[in-house]
Amino acid sequence: MERGELLYEGKAKQIFATDNPNLVQMYYKDEATAFDGTKKGIIKDKGVVNNRVSCLLYQLLARNGVPTHLVEQLDERNVLVKKMKMIPVEVVVRNIIAGNLAKRLGMEEGSPLNSPIIELYYKDDDLHDPMINEYHIRAMGWANDSEIEEIKKKGLQVNDLLCQFFDSIGIILVDFKLEFGIVDGQVLLGDEISPDSCRLWDKVSLEKLDKDRFRRNLGQEEEAYQEVARRIEGALG
Ligand code: TMP
Ligand code: ASP
Repeated sequence: MERGELLYEGKAKQIFATDNPNLVQMYYKDEATAFDGTKKGIIKDKGVVNNRVSCLLYQLLARNGVPTHLVEQLDERNVLVKKMKMIPVEVVVRNIIAGNLAKRLGMEEGSPLNSPIIELYYKDDDLHDPMINEYHIRAMGWANDSEIEEIKKKGLQVNDLLCQFFDSIGIILVDFKLEFGIVDGQVLLGDEISPDSCRLWDKVSLEKLDKDRFRRNLGQEEEAYQEVARRIEGALG
């Protein structure tokens, strides 16, 4: 598989064309950003961890009836995925009050929720990813009714599967972000699921094992990412 031209560069990944028009190659970088790209840094080998973690989790999801864009991991930092028309929406699923929800509602981080919350944000750094709802998605033509239903259903399904899996490796899945795309009329999970896009707390110590270490200057980001990868690899690798 020949790597072709750079099609898109995001904050954490690059997307390249391949010789198959239906497939693209994603390259995972070590660059870390927060707060709409205003805080920048490097987390050593983050790209390697996120690629591996995301591939293992996407294989787990596929085995459990949630199809994703994953075709195959090519090497440490590269993965082959289906080319999709991305829906420009970040789908956040929350199990425990944290981060932006804690701030917005003036509530304490760490309080459990009675049921999961799905939140939708329009993916645009310049606008600081404003919160939207499903009416915006429908009215803007980003997805139709049945696609919106699929997104919500899949978000909750991924949450159930991943809560159970992370629990089995001693980790609480506090919240996470998903992105979806459409290919051949089907809504598929795209992007990544990794310590960049989830809040992951150690079940016993409640230590943060995710990008909040970088966002909040807690240090030991690299060690936290490696620890997550080690536990996931131990269970699924
Ligand atoms: P939030 O509490 O800042 O809204 O974040 C909720 C979850 O979404 C958290 O697990 C981190 C993830 N997230 C991203 O992956 N990308 C983003 O741009 C933001 C703001 C959050
Ligand atoms: N990745 C996002 C950014 O760089 C935000 C975040 O994950 O906190 O803006």
